[in-house]
Amino acid sequence: MAGLLFSLVALAVSVQCKNIIDLTGNSWTLTDQQGNVSIPGSVPSYSQLDLFAAGVIGDPLVGDNDVFDNWVGTSNWTYTSHPIAGLKHNTSTYLVFEGIDTFATISFCNTTVAAVNNQFRQWIFDVTSILASCPTPNPVLSLAFTAAPIEAAYLGNPNVTETSCLACLEVAYYYPGREFIRKQQSDFGWDWSPAFSPTGIWQPAYIVQLAPVSDIYVTNSMVDIYRQGQLNNIPPDQTQPWIVNASIDYIGELPKGATLKATILDPSGAPLVSGPLVGVTIANGTITGSVTVKGSPKLWWPIGYGAQTLYSMTLEIVASHTVLASVPKRVGFRTIVLNQSPISPAQEALGIAPGANWHFEINGNEIFAKGSNMVPPDPFWTRVTKADFQTLFETAVAGNQNMLRVWASGAYLPDYAYDLADEMGLMLWTELQFSDATYPIAGPFVENVLAEAAYQVRRLNHHPSLAVWCGNNEIEVGLADIGGANPPPALVELYEGLFLDSLLHAVWDQTRSISYTPSSVTNGYLSLDHSAALPMVERYENLTAGSVYGDTDYYDYDADIAFNLSTYPVGRFAAEFGFHSQPSYETYAAVLPASELSFNSSSILARNHHYPVNVTTFFSSYSDPPMPGNRTDRSLQGMGEMSTAAEMWLPSVAKKDPTSNFKAQIYATQIFQSEFYRSQIAFYRRGSGLPQRTLGSLYWMLNDIWAAPTWASVEYGGRWKMLHYGTKDIYEPVIIAPYHDAGTGDVQVWVTSDLWSPVKGTAQIQWYNWAGEALGNGTANMKAPLTVGKVNSTKVFEFNTFNITFPLTDAVAVLTVAVSGGGKSYTHTHRFYAQSLATPEVVSNIQNPNITVTHSGTNTFIVESKTLAAFVWLDLPAGVTGYFSDNGFWMLPGKKTVSFTVQHDTTAGKWSKSVTVDSLWTLATSA
Ligand SMILES: *[C@@H]1O[C@H](CO)[C@@H](O)[C@H](O)[C@H]1NC(C)=O
Ligand SMILES: *[C@@H]1O[C@H](CO)[C@@H](O)[C@H](O)[C@H]1NC(C)=O
Ligand SMILES: *[C@@H]1O[C@H](CO)[C@@H](O)[C@H](O)[C@H]1NC(C)=O
Ligand SMILES: *[C@@H]1O[C@H](CO)[C@@H](O)[C@H](O)[C@H]1NC(C)=O
Ligand SMILES: *[C@@H]1O[C@H](CO)[C@@H](O)[C@H](O)[C@H]1NC(C)=O
Ligand SMILES: *[C@@H]1O[C@H](CO)[C@@H](O)[C@H](O)[C@H]1NC(C)=O
Repeated sequence: MAGLLFSLVALAVSVQCKNIIDLTGNSWTLTDQQGNVSIPGSVPSYSQLDLFAAGVIGDPLVGDNDVFDNWVGTSNWTYTSHPIAGLKHNTSTYLVFEGIDTFATISFCNTTVAAVNNQFRQWIFDVTSILASCPTPNPVLSLAFTAAPIEAAYLGNPNVTETSCLACLEVAYYYPGREFIRKQQSDFGWDWSPAFSPTGIWQPAYIVQLAPVSDIYVTNSMVDIYRQGQLNNIPPDQTQPWIVNASIDYIGELPKGATLKATILDPSGAPLVSGPLVGVTIANGTITGSVTVKGSPKLWWPIGYGAQTLYSMTLEIVASHTVLASVPKRVGFRTIVLNQSPISPAQEALGIAPGANWHFEINGNEIFAKGSNMVPPDPFWTRVTKADFQTLFETAVAGNQNMLRVWASGAYLPDYAYDLADEMGLMLWTELQFSDATYPIAGPFVENVLAEAAYQVRRLNHHPSLAVWCGNNEIEVGLADIGGANPPPALVELYEGLFLDSLLHAVWDQTRSISYTPSSVTNGYLSLDHSAALPMVERYENLTAGSVYGDTDYYDYDADIAFNLSTYPVGRFAAEFGFHSQPSYETYAAVLPASELSFNSSSILARNHHYPVNVTTFFSSYSDPPMPGNRTDRSLQGMGEMSTAAEMWLPSVAKKDPTSNFKAQIYATQIFQSEFYRSQIAFYRRGSGLPQRTLGSLYWMLNDIWAAPTWASVEYGGRWKMLHYGTKDIYEPVIIAPYHDAGTGDVQVWVTSDLWSPVKGTAQIQWYNWAGEALGNGTANMKAPLTVGKVNSTKVFEFNTFNITFPLTDAVAVLTVAVSGGGKSYTHTHRFYAQSLATPEVVSNIQNPNITVTHSGTNTFIVESKTLAAFVWLDLPAGVTGYFSDNGFWMLPGKKTVSFTVQHDTTAGKWSKSVTVDSLWTLATSA
């Protein structure tokens, strides 16, 4: 399926008779430098996958193989093709590689062609003369790779770097020096990732031979759709006509008089645009032109806000009535802006705190971004399929998410992922691949990076799901961590040199429709002037008291303050926050032996990479957070955070049976994780109606790359953690939620809506004891009418727990809201309990609900409880993934029907007989 990665190339058609030899497949040999290993190799593939297929190593994701077989990632490998038949000698011939990971010397017919050094570039080499003088008709192509950790160490040596940026700041998890190389940064390890540092030809490759005259081959293309007069980062005038700017990159020579034509059809097949583009220029292997759209195309909207209308476009290069190239694209009409402009007087008049905006606007409307951060779905991209992305994105949409952040230290996603997001209405905040380090700012490194950025921006720009280009992950906030309001000038120079001088222009030079922000977490810009040499001047920590700026990134592993709302950041947008938990027993059992299935087993400890092994910096003002020195001690610290949090907030009665005990511990870490995120998300969402006017919440993180204790809400293999159900619920369009100050006893209950129509209805509070009996106190139980405006919050109730007359150790409030607006109805239920569920008096009140689950027809289950039951958890056997309509919920005595949506089933439906159910009682009993 990896052959679908670059459908553009496969689909580009030419009437000319060119000869294209597809190099994908298994006609390759993989050898190591010592000559000890010589096995069949594949393209696209990775050395680990080919070695595993040949039986040389075990499954890289099983047991401790990631460490045991780490020699694979540090060895030099050579991929050699079989003799290549079917080539015409004495013809213009090119090698076209859609991606090589990463350092390779390429030889063709035993002649060195080039050395490559960037995983994220397309590489094209003219080998016409090599082929012309090749003694054999069937030459051999080979790529001799040097292991990336070796290259990184070499490039990091002060004596060979041109730029002298020597680990100015580097967060390292396994191999050092990732900032010197252009390879997926998490390949060297991350706090949720193993460090395979794979080597291989990871994208399709071709030999292209052009016909003797007027023949070209399309290598890339770009479509930019914007409102006339639009400039990056500035909300455009929505009354202006649409401009479509388009271009094609090619190899070969265009004949004189070549021009560019475009056809854009609406979903019914009616033409919106048809004819030649104007202002056509041809330079450096690119032909560009544009057209002003007459008429009003239907707009593309994110999920929940309107239709995802897509138009099919054909872009053609035409000369003398002959079509030389025809490129299909699917496009959408929308404007999306990351608005960081100053708060206007009109906004202040609405009660918005002064400072600056930091939110997204789609087609001129402010939108609350609900979602999460996404990491690579597998350590080996070559086995990731479109179906995997389909499942992952369906999971996000089913979780009420409308935006995913494509995080900065994986890889740029394949085109098909954006195609799916275009169809599903998911906005993809997209990052250039730089993270948590300072990078070289001059010389070949920067030239390499600029070529990478231009290629990737052009490749992806036409997708309406593309929401923003962001320069890096967390580096700007890293400056503040090191220097507060006064970061070292040398560090600022490094930061601005790459992300404001170079990469801002690399993005803006290609597109006017997409905003650029230099880093994932910023206080925004002080000034924006498109004609200035440095168009964007960052605010950094130059802040005015009482003003609110920028987006936030918040982690605190002190569970004591997890539910203390005053510790959460107040900003315009929450870009990252989270806490780790254990994945399910079944996910571990698929890769670890039974002997390793316990909380702190040596394999699980080794898979926990929280914390980094090294945070190095040459700035003396900064010291690595105090942390035990060695890997195991650091891992134990990370594991301890999970168990401490669970014990602080939940019952933790040990079980006699070790397997039950481990399962209960997993369940507890997942409950805490879910509750902590839900508390923060409710806080950020309520902020849409407070002076901070918060308009986004993206938690860390959506998916896992392997079975390990991490921040993910979906496990490797596709199982939902309780967190994904918890966020699905708190990301409902209309929510009711309690906001508790444990110190003063004050509880406020707010209703928040992210809808664009106002809603109207009623809210209610009713108290129960743990037996599930209603507590009939007239002042504690409340009911009130309410209205909530467009993307706003309303306070509906306020009470003080110290005034509650019944014992809080045996009391849970059920909060409900029912509203309607815009022709639809919405309901939401939440609960409030005043004391930690670990409080001994609470634990002694938690009852055995004698909870049962019955399979009652296709994918439908009935859960029955005799008492109030908390965190009711339906668990699946191995072999099936998908999601329940509700899970991790609380229920009153009685029955609840739950349905299940199957995503993948290898049990032929037998899974439905083995669904089990648990509740909080499990943690309160030793049985
Ligand atoms: C791999 O290649 C590098 C660069 O040529 C070399 O320094 C290193 O010794 C090689 N490693 C092995 C294991 O052959
Ligand atoms: C290329 O070199 C290999 C040995 O490395 C040799 O067997 C082969 O004949 C050579 N091919 C050509 C075309 O010179
Ligand atoms: C760089 O070169 C100098 C002088 O040749 C040498 O003393 C030093 O050890 C080298 N540094 C490294 C890291 O190789
Ligand atoms: C950790 O940092 C030290 C220097 O501070 C360096 O020698 C070592 O290679 C680093 N280790 C890793 C794994 O990054
Ligand atoms: C074409 O490439 C040359 C050399 O890189 C550059 O100087 C020139 O500005 C480019 N022309 C255009 C129109 O991009
Ligand atoms: C701080 O911001 C103000 C505007 O809010 C600006 O006038 C001033 O120059 C900035 N100071 C620095 C050091 O950038």
